[in-house]
Amino acid sequence: MMGTILDAVLDRSILFSFDRSGFLRHARSFRPGDLDVDLTGRVCVVTGANSGIGRAAATALAARGAEVWLLCRDRGRGEEAVASIRKATGNRRVHLEVVDVSHLAAVRAFVERFAPARVDVLIHNAGVLPATRQESPEGLELTLATNVIGPFLLTHLLQAKLAAATGARVIFVSSGGMYARRLSLDDLNRIRRPLRQRTRSSGLKKCMTV
Ligand SMILES: NC(=O)c1ccc[n+]([C@@H]2O[C@H](COP(=O)([O-])OP(=O)(O)OC[C@H]3O[C@@H](n4cnc5c(N)ncnc54)[C@H](OP(=O)(O)O)[C@@H]3O)[C@@H](O)[C@H]2O)c1
Repeated sequence: MMGTILDAVLDRSILFSFDRSGFLRHARSFRPGDLDVDLTGRVCVVTGANSGIGRAAATALAARGAEVWLLCRDRGRGEEAVASIRKATGNRRVHLEVVDVSHLAAVRAFVERFAPARVDVLIHNAGVLPATRQESPEGLELTLATNVIGPFLLTHLLQAKLAAATGARVIFVSSGGMYARRLSLDDLNRIRRPLRQRTRSSGLKKCMTV
């Protein structure tokens, strides 16, 4: 109980949560046995699954027998990831869908052609943090379109398939940076206060002011 309260307080400090000390503190409550599950028959969808955390998650799900759908924006990178995950896990039920999740028309088209009757796990992992303002095909600021609006639409359109699964899960992969800035609800598309890049006083790292 005390550990949970301490975690909740420290996570908001950023300093002691997203560095090595934060990792070691959170790792105390990690129980490897929790991962000993058989996911055969489960349908999992992972966005941005051709690299990094998404690829690792897709591989772990496939290794436990799930049917895994990788949603990637680049066909070549997606095909390479599918081939590599199939080879590493021996699971042939790993598939690619080319979808730019920031492109709302592409998200709609994907859901229309997506055949599985249900979705057990939907992982919104795709994310970007461009240094300057960029826009999605529909004119939304790209970070908002990729990390928020696209995932919201995808979840909304998959509602029936999520409801058809028992105990479906929708997971959003986010950033500790969310603790650092308020969300401007009255200017979500960053028209009045554009994104700007600034250099931290330490000079070590460039960060976005959001
Ligand atoms: N690693 C960290 O320390 C950290 C910290 C805070 C938050 N996160 C979050 O964790 C998630 C994964 O990050 P990562 O570190 O694994 O980064 P990563 O290796 O760069 O992976 C991001 C993935 O998202 C894909 N992607 C980007 N825009 C997309 C779009 N519009 N449609 C489909 N796919 C798209 C990228 O595809 P391409 O290969 O085609 O570019 C890439 O596969 C992100 O949401 C990120 O914001 C990570």
